[in-house]
Amino acid sequence: MTIHKAVIPAAGLGTRFLPATKSTPKEMLPVVDKPAIQYVVEEAVAAGLDDVLLITGRSKRTLADHFDAVPELEAVLEAKGDAERLAKVRESTELANVHFVRQGQPKGLGHAVLQAKRHVGDEPFAVLLGDDLIDERDDLLAPMLALQERLGGSVIALLEVPREQISSYGCAAVEALDGEDADTVRITGLVEKPPVDEAPSNLAIIGRYVLHPAVFEVLENTAPGRGGEIQLTDALATLMDLPAEQGGGVTGVVFRGRRYDTGDRLDYLKAVVRIAVDRPDLGPDFKEWLEKYVAGTTA
Ligand code: UTP
Repeated sequence: MTIHKAVIPAAGLGTRFLPATKSTPKEMLPVVDKPAIQYVVEEAVAAGLDDVLLITGRSKRTLADHFDAVPELEAVLEAKGDAERLAKVRESTELANVHFVRQGQPKGLGHAVLQAKRHVGDEPFAVLLGDDLIDERDDLLAPMLALQERLGGSVIALLEVPREQISSYGCAAVEALDGEDADTVRITGLVEKPPVDEAPSNLAIIGRYVLHPAVFEVLENTAPGRGGEIQLTDALATLMDLPAEQGGGVTGVVFRGRRYDTGDRLDYLKAVVRIAVDRPDLGPDFKEWLEKYVAGTTA
């Protein structure tokens, strides 16, 4: 069976980005001229997923509106004959079949994923964190989907980070997997935000997962962990030890491409600059200005 559902949790409080996130979900912050969430939905669609479920929280409206039609605006652009902007407005509406479900309270990423249980049913599915951008030139999700279809179980994405940063992430202990390349590994341990001296590696879990539906039952029985939240990492640690016939086993894919955590202010700024520099419409002028700015030859 081919995986075709994507779940995108976007119900976090976004406290690292206050006050911008006081009334706007961080997933709606623009990266150049598109909200972060649109890049994530585009990535899901590019990997062949046509059914997208957004898990929303307090400020659901702006997220839902973004994927909905806006007849008044479209009529104005149509009357002006502005086909280019009209296409931009319609792009997000026509991207995929987007559904919404609400996470009443932000009780953690694991709890957010659990809200997808009814929609997903009994099939493997992808989870893409709505504030985590993977550069579209770097392949990650499609190989993860292919790996889950080949090996079963669940697949998570890992990124090598400087050791002193590992306590901001979930961290994985890994071992080589026979017959696979060096960046495809068996997960042997998982711990959420460990102190640096207790971290089993410098491999951080990043926001792309392909999960076996057995994760739902595990999440239902996962007690709140770090920070009082129901942690997806804890559920994955349980899945890791389950037999394959019960949906167990977790494989890791080490990602070597470009990734931006748009929920972090510094990483957000880097994402905007890198994506803008590479844009054919804005890049040349922006780059010229940026070089002068960095050299101190312009204000
Ligand atoms: P983060 O830990 O980055 O989100 O969650 P946060 O809690 O909003 O961030 P800060 O630390 O307060 O700034 C990773 C992803 O999981 C979602 C977030 O929206 C984000 O996409 N999430 C997190 C939920 O959907 N629900 C939750 O209860 C927690």
